[in-house]
Amino acid sequence: MDTMTDTRAEPAGNHWLAADGVRKAYRDYDKPEADRVREFYRQNHRHQTYDFVLAKKAQWLRFERQRMTPWAALDYLNTLVDESDPDTALPQINHLLQTAEAIRADGHPDWFVLTGFVHDLGKVLCLFGEPQWAVVGDTFPVGCRHSERIVCAEFFAANPDHDHPVYGTENGVYEPGCGLSNVHLSWGHDEYLYHMLKDRLPEPALYMIRYHSFYAWHREGQYGHLTDATDRANLPWVQKFNPYDLYSKQPNPPVLAELKPYYEDLLAKYLPSELAL
Ligand SMILES: [Fe+2]
Ligand SMILES: [Fe+2]
Repeated sequence: MDTMTDTRAEPAGNHWLAADGVRKAYRDYDKPEADRVREFYRQNHRHQTYDFVLAKKAQWLRFERQRMTPWAALDYLNTLVDESDPDTALPQINHLLQTAEAIRADGHPDWFVLTGFVHDLGKVLCLFGEPQWAVVGDTFPVGCRHSERIVCAEFFAANPDHDHPVYGTENGVYEPGCGLSNVHLSWGHDEYLYHMLKDRLPEPALYMIRYHSFYAWHREGQYGHLTDATDRANLPWVQKFNPYDLYSKQPNPPVLAELKPYYEDLLAKYLPSELAL
């Protein structure tokens, strides 16, 4: 049975069929894994402040830590299990491969497939010693009011910015309509990888990479007052990417060895032979 096709045939239900035939829910924070996930968001929402984000950008966007080939970075990433994700304990390379293969199976352009294959590469930050709450999980704007539609929003009460006279207001430090490129999101793998690849991929791919964890925007419809026309034009691409990121998480991974030549060519077409991390 092709479980990948089965599960993606019913995305609105947020369910997938596990190998044992049991129907399970995606992004279900009430599962037994939920305690781990809630603890993750307690930390994330407490510590991701405006000042923290600016400091992390200054630290990591110089890309002076390490140089490695894209494959070496993917192999390196493979030792990580994402604590914020209630849906999978699979190594990252399998998640990337499943996402990319689902995009490819639907006949999308090769840059879209490549985006699926690399979209979580920024999680290497975890392996450089960053705590998971500063790398993974849903992202949200800092420097303005926290939407109540952000996952585990109750934990923002412990964030020093939450009741700040400027950062706690609707627009905060931003002008309405300023565009998301002028809005600082909570620091994580999306923003980091966007800056690493921003001269390499078409605009929709960069939007998918930069905003794929910004569920408050692409799923909940929040923060529209900060977006501009370019953001709104690219929102459908971010939304088109999301089911592949979510619903292609399957317990039985595709075989990397068989697919490696295709992905080696794809990486060589779009990415430099060596990445600056
Ligand atoms: Fe991600
Ligand atoms: Fe992902």
